[in-house]
Amino acid sequence: MDESDQIKVTRRDVLVIGTASVVAPLLPMRSADAKESTPMNDTQQPSVEGSTTYPITFRVNGISRNIDIDPRTSLLDALREHLKLTGTKKGCDHGQCGACTVLVNSVRINSCLSLAVMHRGDDVRTIEGLGTPETLHPMQAAFIKHDSYQCGYCTPGQICSAVAVLNEIKAGVPSHVTADLAVPPEATNLEIRERMSGNICRCGAYSNIAEAIRDVTGSNG
Ligand code: FES
Ligand code: FES
Repeated sequence: MDESDQIKVTRRDVLVIGTASVVAPLLPMRSADAKESTPMNDTQQPSVEGSTTYPITFRVNGISRNIDIDPRTSLLDALREHLKLTGTKKGCDHGQCGACTVLVNSVRINSCLSLAVMHRGDDVRTIEGLGTPETLHPMQAAFIKHDSYQCGYCTPGQICSAVAVLNEIKAGVPSHVTADLAVPPEATNLEIRERMSGNICRCGAYSNIAEAIRDVTGSNG
């Protein structure tokens, strides 16, 4: 056997050695982690994968719902995956697009940034709970009237956000536009666009969205 044969390493050998070198250091750490984990209490249930779930009760669209959930589950995933309320959309899953906007106790939040277990006892409203096909919420009807969507993916979040925006203006909650002016906020085009700036529309239906919102307020500003 010459020298070149002795150092010959196949591609398969490289993969096996590489995988072992990556996995080996992790094994003791996982074992140590397992030893340090705290025992479950009475309200926790082991899931099929061995993780722990917690029971939560909250109201969703006016109905009391009980689910056992992994504490790492976002409110967005709890709504979509556990309660099958898929009207709320997942866009970025990082708090950047607003597609997942829902109302919690009448305040809008990005449900992808909030853990479901934080909402025990809360009142959550999604697009499914704003109106029905027979009796649309005025904001839903205005979006249809003003053709405020194209693909529609951002629309549930836009509508939930718009409903909250009107509540904010009505309650006199200042925005960046009005904070320095010390005047009550009004539903002007500028004010609405500022307050809706966290809801991204890749189709660019912004003008029609603002028109729909101003229509609901009766504002021409
Ligand atoms: S999916 Fe939540 S902000 Fe984009
Ligand atoms: S309507 Fe398509 S992203 Fe807004």
